[in-house]
Amino acid sequence: MADQETTASKYAGVTQAQLDAHWMPYSGNRQFKQDPRLLVAAKDCFYTSADGRQIFDGLSGLWTTGAGHGRSEIANAVAAQIQQLDYSPGFQFGQPKSFILAERLSHWMPPGLNRIFFTGSGSEAADTSLKIARAYWRKLGKGTKTKFIGRAKGYHGVNFGGISVGGLPANRAWYGAGIESYHLASTLLPENRFTRGEPEQGAHLAEQLIDLIQLHDASNIAAVILEPMAGSGGVIPPPKGYLQRIAEICQAHDILLIFDEVITGFGRLGYKTGAEAYGVVPDMINVAKQITNGVIPMGAVACKQGIYDAFMEDAGPDYQLELPHGYTYSAHPVACAAALATLDILEQEQLIERAHGLIPEIEQRVHQLQGLPYVSDIRNSGTASAVSFEPAPGEPLLRPYQVAMAMWSKGFYVRYGGDTVAIAPPFIAELNQLDDIYSALGDCIAELT
Ligand SMILES: Cc1ncc(COP(=O)(O)O)c(C=O)c1O
Repeated sequence: MADQETTASKYAGVTQAQLDAHWMPYSGNRQFKQDPRLLVAAKDCFYTSADGRQIFDGLSGLWTTGAGHGRSEIANAVAAQIQQLDYSPGFQFGQPKSFILAERLSHWMPPGLNRIFFTGSGSEAADTSLKIARAYWRKLGKGTKTKFIGRAKGYHGVNFGGISVGGLPANRAWYGAGIESYHLASTLLPENRFTRGEPEQGAHLAEQLIDLIQLHDASNIAAVILEPMAGSGGVIPPPKGYLQRIAEICQAHDILLIFDEVITGFGRLGYKTGAEAYGVVPDMINVAKQITNGVIPMGAVACKQGIYDAFMEDAGPDYQLELPHGYTYSAHPVACAAALATLDILEQEQLIERAHGLIPEIEQRVHQLQGLPYVSDIRNSGTASAVSFEPAPGEPLLRPYQVAMAMWSKGFYVRYGGDTVAIAPPFIAELNQLDDIYSALGDCIAELT
């Protein structure tokens, strides 16, 4: 009887038929549906699981919720917006908050990136930035500049443009031809294992961009797209000087540089953007996730004004559209309300500064795990951290999964994928909560067989 009750509460009333009906994204559906991990509520740094446990949110949702869960300011702004204007068409008509938000976002971006195109997600932001890059060159009469350069282990969402420039094999291999893209090598080097923060070695890998330019010619290359810190590839910080050198080469060869800051935008690195953290100004920045604290889907591409201006010039009659692109949910009024409330919180509570203060605390705690069984590398960048594992014989993905499941049973949610477990706590996390999650991680690793 007790078992039945536990099982019932674990399922939160969801039937097996209901579980089966939902084809879950990026999930092991078969395993999940045998042993569901359901979340039913959230407040501050904790989820409540269906069986009533408090689960520390070790990845701020999916890198989304740095300001913590259940923020009444955002909930109230969203509720008020739905009552006042629930949806409005973004094509040829507007609503005030998207303009207010765009201007406000321009102050979060590096100087000059002050023209904002809204999307519904990070994947849409990635594909939007690639389309803008191609269309920009075409507009300037350089229509041969169509190829893209990404990086191995890069992640730019799941749409066709994003998986083409992305460098995670599993995300591309199943889906056939994409758009023409070439890849720089990953900067994850064996000599940098267990480095604290940005590694010393690896800036030389930026020179590969010169080789690719020689091979394809700059007249055929539209843009380079990179995450300043590669999050989904396993928290890979850029080597010192690497991004600066990439930016120099792009500038010298008239190639646009796009930073995909869907994870690093709005505080994850302890700065407003990765661009600010590393002192590099790209031509476009893609954001999503933390822009609404994860509450409502939204993405955006911030462009240098010169890019926008190029589209406005010689564009025919002024009632004619300048860029044939946009989404039904671009600049959705409810998402704009959530974003404005999120920026208020980040600013008023000085959460970017708070996140910055957590960097050494996280660094020190995660690197204490060096030396535990099967730990092959530890990396940290801003408030993101990761532990990689030697592959188990014949099952390279097993150990991170085992560790994450052990963490779940101890009351911690962490992200696992590839050979890595990642932890990126909310910016509001307290030091004792960091103690708890990293020491639980150590215990779970020590239990690996
Ligand atoms: C750098 C980067 N780009 C794009 C995306 C895709 O965003 P979304 O899942 O909102 O489409 C992600 C998601 O993790 C990301 O990390």
